[in-house]
Amino acid sequence: RVSYVITFVLLPSLAYADTPRYNMTRGVTDISQQVYQLHMIIFYICCAIAVVVFGLMFWSIVRHRKSKGNEPAKFHGSLKMEVLWTAIPVVILVVMAIPATKTLIAMEDTSKADITVLVTGSQWKWHYKYLEYPIDFYSRLSTPREQIVNEAEKDNNYLLEVDKPLVIPTDKKVRFLVTSDDVIHSWWVPAFAVKKDANPGFINETWARVNKPGVYRGQCAELCGKDHAYMPVVVEAKSPQEFERWTQQQIAEIEAAKAAEAAKGTMSMDELMALGKTTYDTHCAACHQVSGEGLAGVIPALKGSVMATQDMPGHIHIVLHGKPGTAMQAYSKQLSNSEMAAVITYERNAWGNSTGDLVQPAD
Ligand code: CUA
Repeated sequence: RVSYVITFVLLPSLAYADTPRYNMTRGVTDISQQVYQLHMIIFYICCAIAVVVFGLMFWSIVRHRKSKGNEPAKFHGSLKMEVLWTAIPVVILVVMAIPATKTLIAMEDTSKADITVLVTGSQWKWHYKYLEYPIDFYSRLSTPREQIVNEAEKDNNYLLEVDKPLVIPTDKKVRFLVTSDDVIHSWWVPAFAVKKDANPGFINETWARVNKPGVYRGQCAELCGKDHAYMPVVVEAKSPQEFERWTQQQIAEIEAAKAAEAAKGTMSMDELMALGKTTYDTHCAACHQVSGEGLAGVIPALKGSVMATQDMPGHIHIVLHGKPGTAMQAYSKQLSNSEMAAVITYERNAWGNSTGDLVQPAD
């Protein structure tokens, strides 16, 4: 009977449990595969313990169900039993601890990395900065909100997209330095077995060597405010040659953008206001609101404020460098010079000023 139960119930249910839908992923790094194997070893050990313990328990319940009035066996103070039930768990724990410790040590070893990426979380986007290349960019949710709500109801595996994924080479040790601009986030890519908290003021380290090119997805894994659910992580692993090509292309694009910016010359007031609105809606509206009214007691209003309408040097300084101790972060890296000029102009004029005239910054 026991063998029937094992063959027809236990083994099929274990096999069923080991599908990506119910089990953890095997992943695409050596570490993630070790983690998966550890998880499975410990899972099977737990199953074996459960079978023995519950088997004995049910056997004794059924076997002795009619032994009325009999005294139960007594083994209080039995040295043999004490040794046995201490030794068996110790052996089981040691068997689990040896491979687990090996993997943990390997996971923490960020030395001898081929490339390093600084990952900074902020409400609600990721900033990736390559330390070996002059490349850094923000990676933001790009799926329209209405689409998310509609599609996610129909499709359980609905994926959120970003405007620009992190690109890394395969077969290279990539070190990630993880930190935050504001609150605690967590950078999580299940296929790499990587999940590191991004803490403001601290840098955590982790690493991955990806074995297979592809797109790997994760999500901010620390509740970080109203858009926590909309902070996807998308990583694209390319072969080392393709990665090199990608970096050259990025550098060329950055140079071209700089040249275009320099060649732009003077913008008309309408152009400035249009660019300012786009910039404001992308970077500022999440906190200061589309109306510029802020949130009473939490986020200061820009509409009609002295800061936004009169103290231009002060305003520019805060936008560029942020305001320590508040959620206002530095935008010196996030905004181009034109966007900076445009957003300051927009904030000064958008919601109407006392004279009704548009005020263009002097310089
Ligand atoms: Cu960032 Cu949750």
